[in-house]
Amino acid sequence: MAKKALITGVAGQDGGHLAKLLYDKGYEVYGVIRGQLESSHPRYKAVKSEMPFLNLVMADLTDLAALTRAMQEIRPDEVYNLAAISHVGYSFRDPILTAEVTGKGVLNVLEAIRLSGLEKSTRFYQASTSEMFGGLDYNRPNKGYAEDAVFHPRSPYGVAKLYGHWITKNYRESYGMHASCGILFNHEGERRGPEFVTRKISKAVARIKLGLQEGIELGNLDSKRDWGYAGDYVDGMWRMLQQDEPGDYVLATGETHTIREFCEVAFQEIDVEIEWQGEGESEVGVDKNSGRMLIKINPDFFRPAEVDILLGDPTKAEKVLGWERKVDFGGLVKLMVENDLKLEAL
Ligand code: GDD
Repeated sequence: MAKKALITGVAGQDGGHLAKLLYDKGYEVYGVIRGQLESSHPRYKAVKSEMPFLNLVMADLTDLAALTRAMQEIRPDEVYNLAAISHVGYSFRDPILTAEVTGKGVLNVLEAIRLSGLEKSTRFYQASTSEMFGGLDYNRPNKGYAEDAVFHPRSPYGVAKLYGHWITKNYRESYGMHASCGILFNHEGERRGPEFVTRKISKAVARIKLGLQEGIELGNLDSKRDWGYAGDYVDGMWRMLQQDEPGDYVLATGETHTIREFCEVAFQEIDVEIEWQGEGESEVGVDKNSGRMLIKINPDFFRPAEVDILLGDPTKAEKVLGWERKVDFGGLVKLMVENDLKLEAL
């Protein structure tokens, strides 16, 4: 019999990659989307038309009853909890909802599994995040964060995710659940939402090339991120649940780049060399050849507290899970800009 997997947040970036991966592996795939969506709703139709193999389940992460009903009806072998309010900047504007969904929502999913009597048979994956670390690990400044690094979240999102992380470990320790946490560093790609900086840049570069947009406004150009490709990371999630024992694993590239570098490489894809002029909020990025201003700073995109640098150490995942990445930084930027050039030209 085919294994059954249930994915919360199936309509998000990772949900789509993971659903396809599991379907290709022969799983019966169930995807949770938020309640009240009729099958005629455009969002429902969009998910269904992209992934017709998906069995869609209506539930909200804040609704224990609906989640429990889903667990009882489906009795999944594996549950991947990817749903969250996941935009760090937004979490400062709506911290209460972020705590309810991104934090307590994890508890609801775990409780739904336990209330259904599935805690000994269903394996659980929690989408933990590098945002729980919050900056440099001063004990290992050059190596990046590993699983045992100290947490210091810098946003309501990071704090909520830390609750989700610890409650997952608590259910593992208290009830013997096969519950694992993937501490994923930033992972991007063609399915990334345009509210995140990489996709905002790749989309803008494509639109500028096609004459559809003048330039782009960004916030902090100097923060550094360890960016990988989302398609590679969902394979790591699956591998975690195939282990005999549950555990926590960092998935990262071990390389870190500034937003500034991401811009430079993205513009190179359309043969534009960026030259930076000015300082602070007055800094601009111009096309070196034509002098045309393409990038400027908008302080609205600054955050009340910033994570200046993220760099991960994926050694454990590589050794224990045999996890490897196929797409490097240059390949990622290229893939994203090429994808947006195609989409914007339609
Ligand atoms: N979104 C956004 N928009 N970020 C900007 C902008 C802008 O216009 N300008 C500069 N930035 C900077 C942010 O201040 C941050 O330092 C960096 O770009 C990355 O921002 P995001 O792409 O929004 O991602 P994130 O690093 O905050 O969070 C993502 O990665 C986490 C893993 O570390 C999200 O996917 C989280 O859900 C995830 O947990």
